[in-house]
Amino acid sequence: MGNKLVIRDMVEEDIPWVMDIELNSFSTPWSEQSFINEIYKKYAITRVAEFESLIIGYISVNYLFHEAHLLNLAVHKDYRRMGVATALMNNILPELKKKGCVFIYLEVRASNTGAQKFYENFGFKVQSIRKKYYGNPDEDAFLMMAKINDGLN
Ligand SMILES: CC(C)(COP(=O)(O)OP(=O)(O)OC[C@H]1O[C@@H](n2cnc3c(N)ncnc32)[C@H](O)[C@@H]1OP(=O)(O)O)[C@@H](O)C(=O)NCCC(=O)NCCS
Repeated sequence: MGNKLVIRDMVEEDIPWVMDIELNSFSTPWSEQSFINEIYKKYAITRVAEFESLIIGYISVNYLFHEAHLLNLAVHKDYRRMGVATALMNNILPELKKKGCVFIYLEVRASNTGAQKFYENFGFKVQSIRKKYYGNPDEDAFLMMAKINDGLN
């Protein structure tokens, strides 16, 4: 994949491809409008991973003062375990640090052990449990948190 993988800001034209990944990745997917809102929100970074002109992943994060919230991260099924999500994280973490963020948190389904393993690699630890945070099916969320420091980027 290497230098053929481009990480850039998401634009509205990307959304049909993003929605294809979103619908295939989550049981309670975001709407197109959610992505549009993120693209134009002030304290937000929304990026795609593009490989040979194909959108194969994306990340969405909000930040305010010292705190960043990872809202969405997904990679197309055919391109998983190739380092795409790692590239997306490595792209945004130094930027969040520059903006003054000192920690980043996220919610993940209790059953989503693959994503939890991924986040643990970046130093995230389960901080607390949000009971029945998700629907379809009802499920707890793990609130995971990591420090944004020199170890992370
Ligand atoms: C979680 C997700 C974003 C990871 O994307 P990815 O591009 O496959 O991740 P990477 O290739 O960068 O993975 C890096 C490392 O994280 C860990 N990892 C990633 N996916 C994993 C899985 N399913 N099971 C166990 N470990 C995993 C591994 O250590 C992996 O390294 P390895 O492949 O050398 O073993 C992807 O599986 C996905 O889109 N899942 C569906 C949506 C989702 O759950 N998003 C997170 C919601 S909170």
